[in-house]
Amino acid sequence: MWRRATPPPPSPPQWPSYALPTLIAGLSTLLLAVLAVLAALRALRRALHAERLACEASVASLRRELRLLEAAADHAPAHPPPTPTAPHPAPETAEAIPRSPRKPQIRIWMDGAFDMMHYGHVNAFRQGRALGTHLVVGVNDDASITRCKGAPPVMNDAERLAMISACRFVDEVAPAVPYVMDETYLRWVIQRYDIDFVVHGDDPCIVDGKDVYASAQALGKYRTIPRTEGVSTTEIVGRMLLLTSEHHTSSSHASPLLGAAAEADGRKLTQVLHSFSLDGEAAPRGGSSGFVRESKFMTTSQMLRLFAAGCATPPPGARVVYVDGGWDMFHAGHANFLKAASELGDFLYVGIHNDVVVNSHRGSNFPIMNLNERVLSVLACRYTGDVVIDPPWHMTREMIAALNISVVAHGTVADANDDESDPYEVPKKLGIYREIDSTMPQLTVDNIVSRIQANHEKMKAKVTKKMASEREYYSSRYGFEAS
Ligand SMILES: *[C@@H]1O[C@H](CO)[C@@H](O)[C@H](O)[C@H]1NC(C)=O
Repeated sequence: MWRRATPPPPSPPQWPSYALPTLIAGLSTLLLAVLAVLAALRALRRALHAERLACEASVASLRRELRLLEAAADHAPAHPPPTPTAPHPAPETAEAIPRSPRKPQIRIWMDGAFDMMHYGHVNAFRQGRALGTHLVVGVNDDASITRCKGAPPVMNDAERLAMISACRFVDEVAPAVPYVMDETYLRWVIQRYDIDFVVHGDDPCIVDGKDVYASAQALGKYRTIPRTEGVSTTEIVGRMLLLTSEHHTSSSHASPLLGAAAEADGRKLTQVLHSFSLDGEAAPRGGSSGFVRESKFMTTSQMLRLFAAGCATPPPGARVVYVDGGWDMFHAGHANFLKAASELGDFLYVGIHNDVVVNSHRGSNFPIMNLNERVLSVLACRYTGDVVIDPPWHMTREMIAALNISVVAHGTVADANDDESDPYEVPKKLGIYREIDSTMPQLTVDNIVSRIQANHEKMKAKVTKKMASEREYYSSRYGFEAS
């Protein structure tokens, strides 16, 4: 018989023997996972925090830079140009002038002839000013220069003073400073202008066997700035001489500059200039289509930035004035014109045409200065709001709209232009064209060239002598002949 199998008594539920370790393993895995997630979150938070700190730091440093830039902009002299101080009384009266109470300024003194001022001079002013907060520039007078150099400067007192006053980096101008300063005079200057440092280029300035700045050195108030390589007045004069002598060789006419009698000498001078290779490429090669203008000056973006430090965008609602030109051999006439143009509105854009455009309108071997050099010179002018590099020759509605131009100005005296079409047709139609009377109608590039022609013999001797010393400078400084 078979018995019904009695169900086994329900046993208390029991975990299988393998369940417990599995559970423990699972829990600890879960715990580890949770811990890992927490750690990851903490790391993320730390990273975000670090990033925020980094952001704050970089914002702070940007703010600091902005403040420095603003301070620099504040230092950059505003529109009113420095008023030239009255010509100096004799240094003997120095004791009578009480020393002004100390101002929160570091006052820098630089002096020189600054004939045919170029961006090399401007760069020196910029560097000199950067050593302090206020730059006083002493300008030698015509008589003193003529006495010491044996030739009058190409630009007269009024023209040189106007140019220096128009420079963005110059705060004050002192006229009629003698070409060679003695210790008494320098002491007088230091007291009269409350000068902290006398600044000059690092090339020695020897006149009659004496270092002009020896007395400033002795007073412990002398500082040097590195010389701006690649440009000098001598070199620019060289370009002009080369320009005209090359013109001579390519035409049957006697060179207006060198003259038939001086032809042989002229060739020699051309060779001198060529051997120094100041501007060996200056001559048009195969007509104007092969026009090349080379400069030894390296226009880096850093240099442009430094020169453009005072430039800005037009403030909202500003009345924008536009002028354009070649601005070759940027001179006092240009500076005065830009001043007059800037007064027609609140902001001045200066268009600068490229070398090929200038050459195609001016012919021969113009421009004397290449586009980069002309841009630097225009940027250095305190009346320039900003520059427009290589704008269209014929002004267009598009550019007038893009730059929000309200007034277009043009001088009554401009360098010769053989163009028959009118580049200002559009602004004339729009009724925004204005003409400005030239305050220095005598100043044109052609006129500057003929001034050099006038005292060409004196200049030639001076240029040749200076060349030899410059060549020496290059070979002693760099151990090679400049080429
Ligand atoms: C454009 O110039 C006019 C003044 O001529 C000014 O009122 C306007 O605000 C300027 N526009 C801009 C966008 O700045």
